[in-house]
Amino acid sequence: MKVLIIGSGGREHALAWKLRQSSRVTKLYCAPGNGGLAEEAECLPVDVKNLDSLLALGNSIRPDLTVVGPELPLTLGVVDEFSRRGWRIFGPTKAAARLESSKSFAKAFLQRHYIPTAHYAVCNSVDDVQKALSHFHTPVVVKADGLAAGKGVVIARNREEATSVSADMLSGKMLGEAGSKVIIEECLKGEEISFLVISDGERVAPLVAAQDYKRVGDGDTGPNTGGMGAYSTKTMLDDQMRDWLVHHIAQPVISGMKAEGTDYKGVLYCGLMMTARGPMVLEFNCRFGDPETQPIMMRLESDLAEALEASIEGRVSDGEFRWSSDASVCVVMCSGGYPGTFEAGKKILGLAETAKSEGIKVFHAGTAKHDGTYFTSGGRVLGVTAKAADISTAVQHVYDAIARIGFEGAHYRNDIAARAVKK
Ligand code: AMP
Ligand code: GLY
Repeated sequence: MKVLIIGSGGREHALAWKLRQSSRVTKLYCAPGNGGLAEEAECLPVDVKNLDSLLALGNSIRPDLTVVGPELPLTLGVVDEFSRRGWRIFGPTKAAARLESSKSFAKAFLQRHYIPTAHYAVCNSVDDVQKALSHFHTPVVVKADGLAAGKGVVIARNREEATSVSADMLSGKMLGEAGSKVIIEECLKGEEISFLVISDGERVAPLVAAQDYKRVGDGDTGPNTGGMGAYSTKTMLDDQMRDWLVHHIAQPVISGMKAEGTDYKGVLYCGLMMTARGPMVLEFNCRFGDPETQPIMMRLESDLAEALEASIEGRVSDGEFRWSSDASVCVVMCSGGYPGTFEAGKKILGLAETAKSEGIKVFHAGTAKHDGTYFTSGGRVLGVTAKAADISTAVQHVYDAIARIGFEGAHYRNDIAARAVKK
């Protein structure tokens, strides 16, 4: 089977690495891919923001299965268009992907289906915001309705800050069209968990849970990023809680979407806050998480291609996956200056030696390869990932590996999975 992966990050590298292990996959393409992905797949240039170029690519390679990494092609309707042409593709349609592309849609959906989430108000003007704020305690969360690449959520310390952030969003100055509506939301406290399930539109199969580190600095300080690291262990979610999340969150979402005539197929990423009032939905993503996919794929023992096909063919079952009981952790090495401006083109050293280490896999994100040498080409450069019998050993191995890799300006967090190690 010829498989095409759309995207170019560490998530796509982890998916490619896992798909390569499937006996069903005979040829793997990745578009556009990156320096490291070229080791796993034939990389082809494409602009993932342009539906016509994705269709031209589909037409030239006629994949038997396509997997979409980032949200943008999904929200543009790549699944609708590929399916219409009879090309099998894993993921939700444009209408179903509204769970990610419109936060006001997602919040109203959650409320209609009695799925636990924070109190909120949708506002179309600064006047609406000021009225809504009188009903919320501070700190309060301000969210842009549309896709904002991780920059659409601000936790405001007081009403003045909430009003001024909302005004910037609503004026279009801050995020363009994505901020044309804002959501004012109750600020929840607790541990965050990324809970992903695969669905065929009717049933769900949960993946192991992961935790993501979004802020750039140790101790959750500094600005938000695309994700600085993630880990997954067997103890972060016990069987009872896993079943609760399936029955009270994931399954009601899939059943609710079906009842409303927009079957949701693909991966549903539930961003949850484990609060004193119980688990609550912070947000949905209609795709695999980055970097959560890196530790999750390290723990997956069953055939990923088979699970993706089960979603397309309507035969997902709860026993879909087999998992390693090992713990896994991914630490992202970034370019100097990220998430602000940074320089690319720095030579990366130490990759060949690290590749020989047992239990370590380096997933590439912003890298390019020229004449056998890797160079940095993006903000998030590498996702160094370890798997070991327990989280303390995995953390030790991952930082030992990082110490052997270097490029000018490299930075990373030193405390990924630290709370789990302490426990
Ligand atoms: P998003 O950009 O939608 O992925 O949200 C980014 C982050 O904002 C989440 O991962 C949470 O850390 C935080 N967040 C979102 N909603 C809330 C909330 N209601 N209370 C507290 N934190 C939140
Ligand atoms: N790691 C968060 C995301 O993929 O959106």
